[in-house]
Amino acid sequence: MLHRRLGRNGPEVSALGLGCMGMSQSYGSADPAEAVATLDRALELGVTFLDTADIYGPFTNEELVGRSIQGRRERVFLATKCGFVPGAAGSPSRIDGSPEHIRAACDESLRRLGVQTIDLYYLHRVDPRTPIEESVRAMANLIEDGKVRYLGLSEVSGKTLRRATAVHPITAVQSEYSLWTRDPEDGVLPVCRELGVGFVPFSPLGRGFLSGSLRSVDAFGENDFRRDIPRFQPENLGTNLAAVDRFAEIAKRKGHTPAQLALAWLLAQGEDIVPIPGTKRRKYLEENLAAAEIRLAKADLAEIEAAVPKGWAAGNRYSPASQALVDR
Ligand SMILES: NC(=O)c1ccc[n+]([C@@H]2O[C@H](COP(=O)([O-])OP(=O)(O)OC[C@H]3O[C@@H](n4cnc5c(N)ncnc54)[C@H](OP(=O)(O)O)[C@@H]3O)[C@@H](O)[C@H]2O)c1
Repeated sequence: MLHRRLGRNGPEVSALGLGCMGMSQSYGSADPAEAVATLDRALELGVTFLDTADIYGPFTNEELVGRSIQGRRERVFLATKCGFVPGAAGSPSRIDGSPEHIRAACDESLRRLGVQTIDLYYLHRVDPRTPIEESVRAMANLIEDGKVRYLGLSEVSGKTLRRATAVHPITAVQSEYSLWTRDPEDGVLPVCRELGVGFVPFSPLGRGFLSGSLRSVDAFGENDFRRDIPRFQPENLGTNLAAVDRFAEIAKRKGHTPAQLALAWLLAQGEDIVPIPGTKRRKYLEENLAAAEIRLAKADLAEIEAAVPKGWAAGNRYSPASQALVDR
């Protein structure tokens, strides 16, 4: 497995990480045995970068990841996140980036993960009621306490990132980035590059859509997060399927799966990019990791750009409620 540096002065991690969220929520029913086998296989294949969050589950995903890395903690660069507080049954989560919450949440994550230190601790969303400087100062205190090694932010604007780095170095920004969500290119990504902050694309497979295998919202279970995403709704799906089919055709000609080509495209966007494709099954994991070996020439990238040009996706990437939580 190839390695990449997270940020200009950050640590080295596997060029592809593993997103663990789907093992506990969002994309259909959980299969804990296959999830554990997937984590095992990921480590066996050289993945060192695991991504979880306290809100995944809620809380159970950190426990799952924690159990899986027991006895081999040193082989893993472990990222988790704080800032979301689950609502009472059925009600939406809220954001809390206050120093008190961050301190308490970190202790809880350490306990659930069963580790002494979190390698990369992200603020999952910016709390509009807490200045980012206060949140980052609280996170920096966790480094002084030896509870955390590096700091990250998720779904932040370039402006917020500048304010944050004035308080403490930020090692990575994690935001949605893929062939169908290229917003970071005109927002936070250039600022990351200027400041030497690494970039971790989440949902690099468009929540599975870029694999070409998701054809209808009816295939999703009742609690599947994608049911609420405008891009999967009937009024947008036809346009999006036509585009993903054009992309899949290119992948086929080159001897890759669409998921592999989508990841290879992301890796080709810069050495500072470390995607974290999510899966709860070994089959997809193995397929996805092979993407790290694919080298795309300029002509390949131009061909992809012509077939699925920036801005092709119909519909928003989030429902209005989820969009409202994103920093602008
Ligand atoms: N910071 C944030 O706010 C935020 C938000 C979302 C996600 N994340 C992180 O980013 C990680 C990755 O994002 P994501 O999981 O949302 O989306 P993703 O990686 O774009 O897609 C995951 C979905 O694609 C499917 N899939 C994976 N590989 C496939 C393949 N080769 N062929 C067909 N389908 C495939 C998975 O299926 P199975 O489920 O069946 O394996 C899953 O449903 C998450 O696990 C989480 O750690 C962070």
